Amino acid sequence: MNQSQEIVVSGIRPTGNLHLGNYLGAVKNFVQMQHEFKCFFFIADYHSLTTHPKPADLQNSVKQVLAEYLACGIDPNVCTIYYQSDLPEIPELYLLLNMHAYKGELERVASFKEKVRTQPNNINVGLLTYPVLMAADIIIHKAIKVPVGKDQEQHLEMARTFGNRFNRIYEKEIFIEPVAFNYGNQLIKVPGLQGGGKMSKSDGDNNVINLIDTPELIRKKILRAVTDTGPTEPNSIPTAPVQNLFDLMQMVSAPNTFEHFTKVYADCSIRYGDLKKQLAEDMVSFLIPVREKIAAIRADEPYLARVAREGAEKARVSAKTTMDEVRGAIGFRKF
Ligand code: TRP
Repeated sequence: MNQSQEIVVSGIRPTGNLHLGNYLGAVKNFVQMQHEFKCFFFIADYHSLTTHPKPADLQNSVKQVLAEYLACGIDPNVCTIYYQSDLPEIPELYLLLNMHAYKGELERVASFKEKVRTQPNNINVGLLTYPVLMAADIIIHKAIKVPVGKDQEQHLEMARTFGNRFNRIYEKEIFIEPVAFNYGNQLIKVPGLQGGGKMSKSDGDNNVINLIDTPELIRKKILRAVTDTGPTEPNSIPTAPVQNLFDLMQMVSAPNTFEHFTKVYADCSIRYGDLKKQLAEDMVSFLIPVREKIAAIRADEPYLARVAREGAEKARVSAKTTMDEVRGAIGFRKF
């Protein structure tokens, strides 16, 4: 198969704002992929219902995440971007796959077990069948590549299982096996500000820099970032929190700025206050263009509505083609 015909599908959960880690670690890859493959990106609004959002909040978050992806360079003229809930074929395939998905296998999924532990008061069936819905998202377009992180590997395995099972039961080769896909640079680790591992909201809002954070907030967060008491011996290896700041600097500052601070760290003359001030200004400059773009796109409701409508139309052509085969295989009338 020609590389350009390979199909990529990825779902984006509409939870909160994108941060620098999402941008450099994931969204930039989507932007690259759209030029190399046939890409379907969608806002997973059905999946977000497992937490029972209020209608106004749901509306706002799906539009916000759409605006952020567009601002980052996802181009609706190059790929297909849509809201999951605009495709009635998805819940239809989900229902059909559910008939051959077993309670026991779904109960063994790590993400489900985690929910059972962390939210014992809301273990709804939507959570249990989350992997079935995700499988429907992927195999309905016959995707071969799915750009997701390690935490989604088990869900992807289930998508292969459900697709293969359907093929076997109905003795047809309708679905193909999707595999996880990432460019090597997906592995770049964007660290957080609180001294820990990667930039992630689970460690609080002060650990992350959101694309829409104001310059004042960015400065405040960086000036409060965790450091240590400073190097005492020349050429010592920075502690993790300080190394994190250097890593961030390498991502957003000019090379000679980074070299300067590396040098003053090595000779122990560094002042962390200066490092943070410089990093904050460079971070602000790095993010201003995307922040302004997000605001402009988010304010243009007719544009967002048009992108969503046209995206859904394109996606439904692909989804309907598969559903015709599926309905035929089951013994239903084709539409
Ligand atoms: N489960 C994914 C996540 O939590 C989101 C998602 C839903 C998805 N459907 C998908 C990802 C299909 C890839 C393909 O991030």
